[in-house]
Amino acid sequence: MATAMNFPQPQSGARVIRLIRPSVVVLCGPAACGKSSFAAKHFRPTQIVSSDRARALVCDDDRDQRFQTQAFALVHFLIEQRLTLNRLCVVDSTALTQAARKGLLDLARRFHVPAVVLLFDVPLATCVERDAQRERSVGQAVIERQYELFVQARPLIRQEGFDQVVELSAQDMEEVQTEIAFRPVPRAMTAAAQPERRRFSPGPPRPDAETKGTPPDPRGPSAPNARPTS
Ligand SMILES: Nc1ncnc2c1ncn2[C@@H]1O[C@H](COP(=O)(O)OP(=O)(O)OP(=O)(O)O)[C@@H](O)[C@H]1O
Ligand SMILES: [Mg+2]
Repeated sequence: MATAMNFPQPQSGARVIRLIRPSVVVLCGPAACGKSSFAAKHFRPTQIVSSDRARALVCDDDRDQRFQTQAFALVHFLIEQRLTLNRLCVVDSTALTQAARKGLLDLARRFHVPAVVLLFDVPLATCVERDAQRERSVGQAVIERQYELFVQARPLIRQEGFDQVVELSAQDMEEVQTEIAFRPVPRAMTAAAQPERRRFSPGPPRPDAETKGTPPDPRGPSAPNARPTS
């Protein structure tokens, strides 16, 4: 059952969001509330599965809303592959509809990993102001519509089955820290979660595949400012 996050107070006094790798971390908030900026500050680029990026990859335009089906198929595919490898998946999309959130929650369940939602509770006026100042603004009408969806969704999200619901005010977004702890899911369980739909096989790994380059960080990919945890 979802619980609001009561931030523990570490010695430094900063609030901490404690996350597990692998997991599905769903960012939820209207346009221009600061989701992508927050993600860039706390997570590695490769840990962020972005719907804008997926749109760009499928149709060359990250704002073209006509190809949502293809873009989100790619988002889900990337999450599946990453979870198979016990990777963190920070999903950067608005996640304002229950259907969108349920799709992500179902993926997390299928792979036996925690599902967390970060709610970006930023005032409408701030979103509008930030949008007006950015290079590619979406406009006040879009933000108002999305903000309304966010207000409607906020009380419902706690009943949707997420393991953790973290509410972040504009001030929290400035101050909060993240910690990522590694709790791998046994390979047999992630393999069983993979759908039987592969038409090709990448073949066996090259003999040197695991040995070339820098040895992997045992903590796995972590945020630039993530604090190491056991
Ligand atoms: N904490 C902050 N303080 C001031 N400005 C911010 C902050 N966070 C983000 N911004 C600015 O607000 C604008 C919108 O931020 P961002 O692109 O991260 O929002 P978003 O929620 O990802 O929007 P979208 O849903 O459209 O992708 C950007 O110009 C960004 O630089
Ligand atoms: Mg964004």
